[in-house]
Order: sequence, then structure tokens, then C-alpha cells
Amino acid sequence: MSTPTYNLNGRDIIVVGGGGYIGAHVCKMIAENGGTPIVFDNFSAGHEHAVKWGPFVDVDLRDRADTIAAFRNHDHVESVIHLASSIEVGEGERDPAGFYDNNVMGAINLLMAMRETQTHNLIFSSTCATYGETQNMPLLESEIQNPFSVYGKTKLAIEHLIQSYHKAYGLNYVTFRYFNASGADASGDIGEEHDPETHLIPNALKAAAGLGSKMKLFGTDYDTPDGTCVRDYIHVNDIALAHIEAIRAMDAGLTNAELNLGTGEGYSVLQIIKAIEEVTGLPVPYDAGPRREGDLTKLYANAAKAESVIGFTPQHSSLENIIQTAWNFHKTKWGV
Ligand SMILES: NC(=O)c1ccc[n+]([C@@H]2O[C@H](COP(=O)([O-])OP(=O)(O)OC[C@H]3O[C@@H](n4cnc5c(N)ncnc54)[C@H](O)[C@@H]3O)[C@@H](O)[C@H]2O)c1
Repeated sequence: MSTPTYNLNGRDIIVVGGGGYIGAHVCKMIAENGGTPIVFDNFSAGHEHAVKWGPFVDVDLRDRADTIAAFRNHDHVESVIHLASSIEVGEGERDPAGFYDNNVMGAINLLMAMRETQTHNLIFSSTCATYGETQNMPLLESEIQNPFSVYGKTKLAIEHLIQSYHKAYGLNYVTFRYFNASGADASGDIGEEHDPETHLIPNALKAAAGLGSKMKLFGTDYDTPDGTCVRDYIHVNDIALAHIEAIRAMDAGLTNAELNLGTGEGYSVLQIIKAIEEVTGLPVPYDAGPRREGDLTKLYANAAKAESVIGFTPQHSSLENIIQTAWNFHKTKWGV
């Protein structure tokens, strides 16, 4: 990981969803900057083995009374990072009720608990999936938000909820719209472990390792140079770093911001496959099929606002580093 960026001075920070992929990296970064992450999670998708830098509190955000009680037990805490969410886009289409319940109701309960305990600072994990199909690349934060998926709609609803809390109750917030989180910590002890895994890089690495079937490539007729979708890949430790920078900026008086977290660089699916073949020295077997419903042609960030508002610039997000660190993590996990 990188050198410490801001001294958190032994401060406790609640990390909701800290047992998940991005949450574990955020917790490690908090610890490396002198703070203590207190993980609130229900392990519906996260992992006990990924919680190692501070205490764990077993709480399901859907349970309002339990969520409020958990906050009451930690009412000295000033800053909360909220990463807990249902994230599998297809599941949202099949079960919108469950998705809205977990994401939106969970956020309502979290915000109520924060208000009850006068916890004033929130950093929220939103997504580039809150934008709609547009030709206006790179995407600015001011772009119209018109999400296609239930997942994106739940995240946009939470963004609006947070804005209302800011206006009416003085909640301070930074909403990050992450682009594609990827890579793993250089130590190799934490990385991406979703089940099911729908993200391109781990699935392509799995195919390269000869585990399971060929990778599925959805759509080769998009209006891009090689016909495959273009995305913006940001290293998970850069995402973690941005959270520390957001805490620093809020300490210095920042009251509200919506910020893209991306690199500004777009790579197509075929470019990612080629880069994986170069890093691993292995071919990536894939089957090219029709487009998948809901996939937008291109999504990449204008990353300038995060730099100007919180002083964040990516440090770990070269494509080679993303793929190398992900490969190191998965090789160990899969024993290949
Ligand atoms: N991974 C990406 O590329 C990406 C991109 C954009 C936005 N995001 C957002 O970042 C956040 C973290 O993503 P991730 O990839 O680490 O996901 P993840 O599934 O690995 O982590 C989510 C964590 O939240 C916990 N959780 C879920 N529902 C909960 C509930 N009701 N109560 C308590 N804990 C609960 C899970 O157990 C898990 O530990 C999510 O909010 C996601 O929408 C991720």
C-alpha cells in the first residue's frame, strides 16, 4: 500500500460493509493512516477473514432498531463510510423488492441512526451506473443521472436522500461515484471475492488460469474502436486513498460533494483481455456472444473534480498494476 497520507490520530471510523472487497481495502488504509476502522457488516456478501484492522459489529442495516443500537454504542464516532449494498446488477432486475429493501431501506435506517446519535460526516459509495446512456465522455458529475438498472436507481435514490439530509439536518457528505473498482492490495492478503463474480478482470483471470469455462464476452458490435464496451478501471487502493482524502477535506470544512472516482482513461473489453494475456503470459479463452441487457457502450470519468475538491489523484491505477495485483491475489486464492 502507499505511504500514509493523513494522520487520523487514533480516531475510530465506522465502515459499514467493511467486510467486502472495497471495504476491506478502506479499513486497511484507515489503519495505515493511524485510525481504527469499526466494521459494521452482516456478511451477506463480505468475509470474516477480511476484517482484521479493527473491531467487528454484527449488524444488518435492514434492522432499524439494531442499526440505531449499534450507533448508540459508538456515539463518539464522527465519520461513517457507507459501502454496504446489494451490488449484483442482474439480481436487482430479478428481485427489485429485495434490492430496494437492502439498499434504500438500509440507507434510510443508517441515516436515521446517524441523526439520532448526531454523527455528522458520511462518505457514501455510489456508482457511475447512476448516469445513463450518453455520448458525453468523459463523464462530468453534472451529467444527467438517468440510471438504466435497478442497482443504479437504488444508488441514485440514496444520493437524493443524502442531499435532503444535508439540506434539512446539516449532514456533511461526500458521495463518490466509483467507476470500475479493480486490482488488489499488493500484500496479496485481500482482494476481490464476490460470489457470484460478475466483474470482467477476475472472470478473465479465472479463464486464463484454466478454471471453469471460457469467459463470456457480451457484445462485439458496440460503437467503439474494437466493438466491445469501454470502461474506466480504478485500483481499489486508489478508491481507499480517496476516502482518506475525503476525511481530510471534511475535517478542513468540506460540507458536501458528489465526486467521480475514476482515472479518466477508458479500456475496452478486448484491451483488458490483451493486457491480461501480457501480464499472465496465458491466453484468455472466451466466447463472444450477444450484448447483455443494460450494458452501456462507454463509461469513463472526468476525474478533475475529485482532484480539485479533495486533492485526490490515482497512484496505483496503471492497467498493468491493476492486473498484476489482481493476478497475485487470485493465484494464491486458487492455488495456481
Ligand atoms: N465493485 C465495484 O466495482 C463498485 C463500483 C461502483 C460502486 N460500488 C459500490 O461500492 C460498495 C462496495 O462494493 P464491493 O464491491 O466492495 O461489494 P461487496 O459485496 O464486496 O461488499 C459489500 C459489503 O456490504 C455488506 N452488506 C450488504 N448488505 C448489508 C446489510 N444489509 N447490512 C450490513 N452489511 C451489508 C456485505 O456483507 C459486504 O461485506 C457498494 O456499495 C457498491 O455498490 C462498487
